[in-house]
Amino acid sequence: MLKVINVAGARPNFMKVAPIVAAMERRQAEFQPLLIHTGQHYDESMSEAFFRDLKMPEPEVYLGVGSASHAAQTAAIMRAFEPVVMKEKPDWVLVVGDVNSTLACALVCAKLGIKVAHVEAGLRSRDRTMPEEINRLLTDQIADLLLTPSPDADANLRAEGIPEERIRFVGNVMIDSLLEYLPIANRSRIREDLGFEGKDYAILTLHRPSNVDQLQIFAGILDALEEIGRRLPIVFPVHPRTLKMIGESGLTERVRNTGGLRLIDAVGYLGFLQLLSGARLVLTDSGGIQEETTVLGIPCVTLRENTERPITVEMGTNTIAGTNPANITKAAFRALGKPRSSAAPRVPPLWDGHTADRILDALLERMKAEG
Ligand code: UD1
Repeated sequence: MLKVINVAGARPNFMKVAPIVAAMERRQAEFQPLLIHTGQHYDESMSEAFFRDLKMPEPEVYLGVGSASHAAQTAAIMRAFEPVVMKEKPDWVLVVGDVNSTLACALVCAKLGIKVAHVEAGLRSRDRTMPEEINRLLTDQIADLLLTPSPDADANLRAEGIPEERIRFVGNVMIDSLLEYLPIANRSRIREDLGFEGKDYAILTLHRPSNVDQLQIFAGILDALEEIGRRLPIVFPVHPRTLKMIGESGLTERVRNTGGLRLIDAVGYLGFLQLLSGARLVLTDSGGIQEETTVLGIPCVTLRENTERPITVEMGTNTIAGTNPANITKAAFRALGKPRSSAAPRVPPLWDGHTADRILDALLERMKAEG
């Protein structure tokens, strides 16, 4: 039996960890899962709401690190996680995604000689100003098993000289959650409560430091939203970081006066999924949402200059518009000019709802191969 510590820390981790922990609980004869929450995200709407919606068990250990600068937060996670690993002596530690919790916990294990598996390995934006890119690069260097979501990720790892036996293409585990919870999400009342039932609307998410921490860029995005908002309402669940920046940069009035823009509190997994699945258009700087819209066949305009998920552009519905207002508007109007597609979306290989089991199989096979 393999004892595995599963690490979750921030909002985009929860929908990746949930199906893995559920699969381990189902396969009790083979796995003994432990769930650790670092506390990188801690607001009800950023954490508990996701545990509830995704039916996740209470974490065995909550590190409660909270917010801080990158160095202080990464260090706090490392200091709190090390004694847990020393006490539990797991066979594997499984980290997901690209947040500070991912790198911090992988680094602790690498130093202690504990095996680490990285889920969502190999993605590269090639933009080292993104904190996530640094987290991805370093985590992949030190993890023992690199579980990739798409063939481009395998190619990136090979190009970095990572030996073949450390790489395993398993598919996209976040899509396990999407496919499981989509029918349940449709019972949510959020769309009706917003008055969007049967209507065209767009969703906006915005939280990257490169967009919201820079006044000029943020103001430019608002110009584009003003124009798009004349065509259809844009619902904007606001990330706490973005809310803070709106206040600090004096943009509160400007945001309030942007016609068509409807600010709401950050929403949980099921509510967001319902909003997403009925949207006519999605505007985002998130990584995961580019993937979810691809599977749902909904046009996505990405407000970034690059993506670490090129398959969502090549096969999916994603357009990289950057942050220039004219380019954002053009991409949005182009998407709105096309009729809603009735054809089944093109879904990348192994984004099929069975990735969690392939991850578990990969861990077992790797242990067997090592004797
Ligand atoms: C983090 C991840 C990012 C991910 C995003 C999703 C890193 C480097 N970044 O960015 O990859 O896309 O989560 O949400 O790990 N805050 C709260 N309540 C919370 C959490 C945060 O108020 O529950 C506020 C705090 O003011 C905090 C700020 O948001 O300082 C930023 O939080 P942090 O976790 O540092 O980064 P995110 O921007 O959320």
